[in-house]
Amino acid sequence: MDLFDKTDEPQSLTLAEGAMLLRGFALREQTAILEDLHAVIALVPFRHMVTPGGFTMSVAMSNCGELGWVTDKKGYRYDAQDPVTGKPWPDMPASFITLAHKAAMQAGYADFKPDACLINRYQVGARMSLHQDKNERDFTQPIVSVSLGVVAVFQLGSFERAGKAVKLPLYHGDVLVWGGDSRLRYHGVLPLKMGYHPAFGEYRVNLTFRKAG
Ligand code: SIN
Ligand code: FE2
Repeated sequence: MDLFDKTDEPQSLTLAEGAMLLRGFALREQTAILEDLHAVIALVPFRHMVTPGGFTMSVAMSNCGELGWVTDKKGYRYDAQDPVTGKPWPDMPASFITLAHKAAMQAGYADFKPDACLINRYQVGARMSLHQDKNERDFTQPIVSVSLGVVAVFQLGSFERAGKAVKLPLYHGDVLVWGGDSRLRYHGVLPLKMGYHPAFGEYRVNLTFRKAG
C-alpha cells in the first residue's frame, strides 16, 4: 500500500487567483448529501429546460433554495418559484448549506451564504458549453460547485469565450470554488463519457451553490 497516494485528507489546489479545487472535499458527507438530494429530486424531478434560442439543454436540471435558475424562451433568470408547479423551490437541505459554507471557507471566502442551488444532471453526451455565471447580483460571492457520480472534464477558461481553457477532470466528491478575480471566468463541461458510479449509475450530478439575490 502506498501511504503517500492514499490519504484521506482532501487535497487543495489553486488553479488561478480566486479559483480552488478541493479534491474529495464532499466525500465525508456524501451519505447525507445523497439522501437530501433524493428528497429534493422527489419534489422537483430533473427536467430539460429550453434556452431562449429554442434549444433543449442536454443537461437536466432541478433547484433548491430561495431562488432557482431557470431558462425558457423569455430568457435566463433566477426565480423564487418553480415555473412548472408555481410553488417555491424546496428548502436547501442543511447538509448542502454546511458543505457549501465549509468549502467556500476552505477556499478563502469566509461568509458565503448561498440562496440558490442549481442541480445539474449529465447523461452520456451531455455537455455545458463555455459560459460565465452572471445572472447573480453580487459578484463578490463565489460559486461553489460539487461534483458527484461519473467523472467529467471541466473547462476553466479566461474572461473571453475564445480564450484558453484548462481541462480538469472532476471526480465524485470534488468541490471547485471560483470567486474573486476568477468569478467571471468562462467555464463549461465537455460531453460526458460513458462511466459508472455505484450511487449515480451512468450519471454525473453537479450541485452549484450561488448567492443569486
Ligand atoms: C455550471 O457551470 O453551472 C455547471 C458546471 C458543472 O456542471 O460542473
Ligand atoms: Fe456556470
